[in-house]
Amino acid sequence: MKKIVYAVRALPGGVPPEVASVVDLRGGEGRPPPRERIHAEGREAEVLVVTYLDRVDDALLEGLPSVRQVSSYGVGVNHVDLPAMERRGVVVTNTPDVLTDATADMAMALLLAAARRVCEGDRLIRAGGWRDAGPEFLLGREVTGKTLGIVGFGRIGQAMARRASGFGMRILYSSPRDAGVPGTTRTDLDLLLATSDFVSLHCPLTDATRDLLSRERIAGMKPGAILVNTSRGPVVDEEALADALEDGRLFAAGLDVFRDEPRVPDRLRAAGNAVLTPHVGSGTVETRTAMARMVWDEVLRRATGRPPAHRVVV
Ligand code: DGY
Repeated sequence: MKKIVYAVRALPGGVPPEVASVVDLRGGEGRPPPRERIHAEGREAEVLVVTYLDRVDDALLEGLPSVRQVSSYGVGVNHVDLPAMERRGVVVTNTPDVLTDATADMAMALLLAAARRVCEGDRLIRAGGWRDAGPEFLLGREVTGKTLGIVGFGRIGQAMARRASGFGMRILYSSPRDAGVPGTTRTDLDLLLATSDFVSLHCPLTDATRDLLSRERIAGMKPGAILVNTSRGPVVDEEALADALEDGRLFAAGLDVFRDEPRVPDRLRAAGNAVLTPHVGSGTVETRTAMARMVWDEVLRRATGRPPAHRVVV
């Protein structure tokens, strides 16, 4: 009997033939259907395929009583209620590593764009506003030789450090563990915020990191600093960030993630010194295809009785 697999939406690259031939795949259309339809169509599924955009909790699993494995497209797992999955004996897999470079590239792109006012210049030209450019026209901030504070020093944070060291930046990081990476200095978060010219967030969203960049911490950032966030929106107090961007305490921000996606607060959309992208840190053809491939590999492993390659441990 083929194992039944239910995918809540389509993944890039389609289903590899070696997977399609050994499982009974259901769902997998463009966009996720309403929950009642997922429950009706996935009732007998043993594996559930989701993405970082899809909430997975007791309410979803109530209607999917046969699910034993949730394979998620993406490295972040804050959309999955992990304690609930553990209680239910459901294995969760994710797709680490393959998106490290693409996400760090995006963080560096936002850092540079925010520092050099790339989007402001682009908007100005498109609006026909580039006329007389005096010596102080559209001045940005220098990147070379400045201090970058990296919050969360796992794979992506370390990849960001490698990129930044190519720009001659001094690297500080805050992390629960000493990573022992040459050329970097571990420091307390408040000191990092007070002394960094640029701060880039790379921590996962957990109870410990929700609101980590609170109003008080944003107020404690070095005046004129630039904040980059490619991790998760709820790590930052967006109202406090909008205040700091409006009153110029922060020079700029580069944001790929928001608290309530796809909703972006009007005040951030109105801030000319914020560079905004729609949660596409890992969004390259190569990386997204590799992420999908990893999901299908996990499905194949389950279907052929092998243990998961990337199991998320609570
Ligand atoms: C993830 O993988 O968690 C990202 O946010 C999407 O690539």
